[in-house]
Amino acid sequence: MTGEWVLVIGAGYWQIPLIKTVQRLGYRAVAIDRNPDAEGGSTADRFEPIDITDSDSTARLGREIGIAGIVSDQTDMSVPTLAAVAEDLNLPGPSMETAHNTTNKARMRELAGKAGLSNPRYRVCGSVGEAKNVIDEDHPDASGGVGLPCVVKPTDSQASRGVQLIHRRKDLIPAFEEAFKFSREGRILVEEFLDGTEVTVEGCRYAGETHLLGTSLKRHTPPPHIIAINLDFPAPLPDITMREIHNIYIRLVDGLGIEAGSIHGELIVTDEGIYLVEMANRGGGSGTSSHCIPAMSGIDLLEANVNYATGREHPVKRTLNRACVLRFLLYEPGIVESIEGVEEATSIDGVEHLVMYIKPGDELAPPVMDTQRHGCLISVADTLEEAQKIAESAENRLNIRLCK
Ligand SMILES: Nc1ncnc2c1ncn2[C@@H]1O[C@H](COP(=O)(O)OP(=O)(O)O)[C@@H](O)[C@H]1O
Ligand SMILES: [Mg+2]
Repeated sequence: MTGEWVLVIGAGYWQIPLIKTVQRLGYRAVAIDRNPDAEGGSTADRFEPIDITDSDSTARLGREIGIAGIVSDQTDMSVPTLAAVAEDLNLPGPSMETAHNTTNKARMRELAGKAGLSNPRYRVCGSVGEAKNVIDEDHPDASGGVGLPCVVKPTDSQASRGVQLIHRRKDLIPAFEEAFKFSREGRILVEEFLDGTEVTVEGCRYAGETHLLGTSLKRHTPPPHIIAINLDFPAPLPDITMREIHNIYIRLVDGLGIEAGSIHGELIVTDEGIYLVEMANRGGGSGTSSHCIPAMSGIDLLEANVNYATGREHPVKRTLNRACVLRFLLYEPGIVESIEGVEEATSIDGVEHLVMYIKPGDELAPPVMDTQRHGCLISVADTLEEAQKIAESAENRLNIRLCK
């Protein structure tokens, strides 16, 4: 036990494993979150209702307590704060530049191009008027045009907020307006639609070495809103494609200036090549870094994260090679009357984690962003086929009844 404090940025449900890791390693956890009722607040040894984007108040708190380190995971929102406080208090963490490179999608496109990787046709727009002009090939302001279908998204948001796949011209303006609502810096991206297979690439970088720990194949809801519904680890892709993914991942880590920490990348494999969607200097969300990676590889990413942040050794050594399914639960629209079978489904051998985000009385609607999914289920087995079967039977045990 050191009894020293480590500051955890964010105290939501998916930050609880990080708070517990801090404590398990002998530190006391001080967590911050704008929401005074954040689920992880009571797990932490101390909680302060500070917005995770408020780096000045976070730095003040860290200085006052005399923290030994600062950590965050599974969300982009906290990364700029992590960088600013780490710099201010002279603690390990990403640089401000790396934080910007890995949370701003316009900057990511620019740097991917500089690293010699291909980008889809794209434009960065500062207003709806500007965005209107970037679709057409022949428009004087378009210089090439993005064309249709296209993907419209904020440059600096996450969890599919304001991200839409647009096929028809008449849907463009509402999509632009929606995307602007979620952009903190007031810019949006209009991108050529990449028609292919999406993969996530999970890993980390420590002591100058980049590790690729898992690659998943990701499936989505139908357009316009693109919400992930299932991730299969490992992605069932040919070896040659996996090698190319690995190669691009390493080049992106360098190109974006990621020096240390967990890494979550999203790529789309098309017939023309492999393209970056986004890459973050943090662990993958919805339990990817806290549950999926450790269960598949034996590597405790959160422990490595806390050890790095507090200046301790943190070797990364794979001891397992298993498969995993991360499935999001979605139900028909309506008002929830009852939820049954959660305990039974959780007790199935191979179910690593199950959480329902809904409760009786909630009104269900088709999600327009990741945070509106209805639950999350993680299964692990020796093969992907087995992990899929386990996820299937767990999902079948759940009985969500809607009011008539
Ligand atoms: N240019 C594109 N072509 C095809 N699909 C895309 C494109 N950009 C984004 N997407 C899809 O939309 C999802 C969300 O977009 P992303 O850029 O990752 O935003 P967020 O930060 O909200 O996750 C991606 O996971 C991917 O499935
Ligand atoms: Mg994404």
